[in-house]
Amino acid sequence: MKFHIETWGCQMNDHDSEKLSGLLVQEGHEPVASVAEADLVLLNTCSIREKAVHKVYSELGRLREEKEQRPLLIGVVGCLAQQEKESLFRRAPQVDFVLGTMAVKQLPKLVEEALAGRKRLIDTQEYPDNHLFPPEVTQRLPMAKALVTIIEGCDHACTYCVVPSTRGPERHRPFADVLAEIRGLVGRDFREVELLGQNVNSYAGGCTFAELLNRISEIDGLEWIRFTTSHPMNFTRELAHVLVTNPKVAPFLHLPIQSGSDRILRRMGRQYTAEEYLERLEYLGEGRKGIRLSTDFIVGFPQETDEDFEDTLRILDKAAFDASFSFVYSPRPGTPALRYQDDIPASMKSERLSRLQARQTELTLQSHRRMIGSIVQARIESHGPTESGHWLARTGQWQNVHLAVGAGILPPFGERVAVKITDAGPHFLRAELVL
Ligand code: 5AD
Ligand code: SF4
Repeated sequence: MKFHIETWGCQMNDHDSEKLSGLLVQEGHEPVASVAEADLVLLNTCSIREKAVHKVYSELGRLREEKEQRPLLIGVVGCLAQQEKESLFRRAPQVDFVLGTMAVKQLPKLVEEALAGRKRLIDTQEYPDNHLFPPEVTQRLPMAKALVTIIEGCDHACTYCVVPSTRGPERHRPFADVLAEIRGLVGRDFREVELLGQNVNSYAGGCTFAELLNRISEIDGLEWIRFTTSHPMNFTRELAHVLVTNPKVAPFLHLPIQSGSDRILRRMGRQYTAEEYLERLEYLGEGRKGIRLSTDFIVGFPQETDEDFEDTLRILDKAAFDASFSFVYSPRPGTPALRYQDDIPASMKSERLSRLQARQTELTLQSHRRMIGSIVQARIESHGPTESGHWLARTGQWQNVHLAVGAGILPPFGERVAVKITDAGPHFLRAELVL
């Protein structure tokens, strides 16, 4: 059978798709690049905001039409599957099976039953060993870095967030398993890994997250370790020290703040004040200058006043974030924030979002411009030049680089090279290859 997987959402979903693909390949099924060629389509879904859910349902509408023309199996997996469970069949009767985020290894069983003609199959149980997936099965996407799960689930309880219910409580992979997987990846020529978890820095699989980073960094041949994502309350002095002193830990920290207003942070259940967040950043000490800092914001949280929003704009400048991702608050099913009335008009939410993003664009541009003239390391992430003739690369600080290379030079995919920054925009840097 030929299968195609469509993935929405975060890196955790990208990596789950690599695992799901591996399970199907192991059963003799063949991955194909488009829905048109496929006998089975898996939608690996996200439900973090309502917009993500709309995208899934509109794709399901398109697939229903396709299914009216020819035999087609449709499976829904991921966070929306976990959230909606059986109710997905009511809204989308064309779906053959629903598989939850903590039942990944049950995929072959569901597919086999669906192929035998059984309808409306579902498994959204929490299998306690879901996080112990055999790495040799994973079918990796053609990327220059490898994704590695270290922790699944989340024990925080932010009032706006579906993740604790869609991904369950924290489960930690033993550090020996993580090290063995990464040694295997380096043996297959990966030079960079990204450690994944809803909250990587609460890692406790036999050592702390900071210790895990140090142990991984001892693996010969590995060049950069990245990680995502982190909660400020679990950002320790020990981790800050490793980040600024261990050269194999890429100099980039994504530390979501969500708001600059203490009143809103309290209602979000974030467990810190804006001042306490800034104190955590001070753990980086002098090393802060070498670390690129990014964050997430939610604007228009229920009862966010102009004053609260001004606090958010102020923190943007105070923390001097090099980049941020910002979103309009989206009420999510089953979350505690539903008890607050979503009372901010849509026009005000989008106006606040635009103001925040405009200021961030200025800050990002300034931060990028400071790099002009410097020489940094970047990894080649394209197999050839784009139409405009440059190659795509990524710095240790997670910036996109449009790279000019001399005529006749073919930098190998996945190689780390030295580049000289020649120009900067808010979304990417221009650079020349240094030979
Ligand atoms: N509405 C808007 N944004 C949200 N996020 C999480 N839940 C919501 C929601 N209900 C944002 C947060 C988080 C990022 C991954 O998504 O900023 O850090
Ligand atoms: Fe979306 Fe969160 Fe699920 Fe990732 S974990 S797919 S961001 S809801």
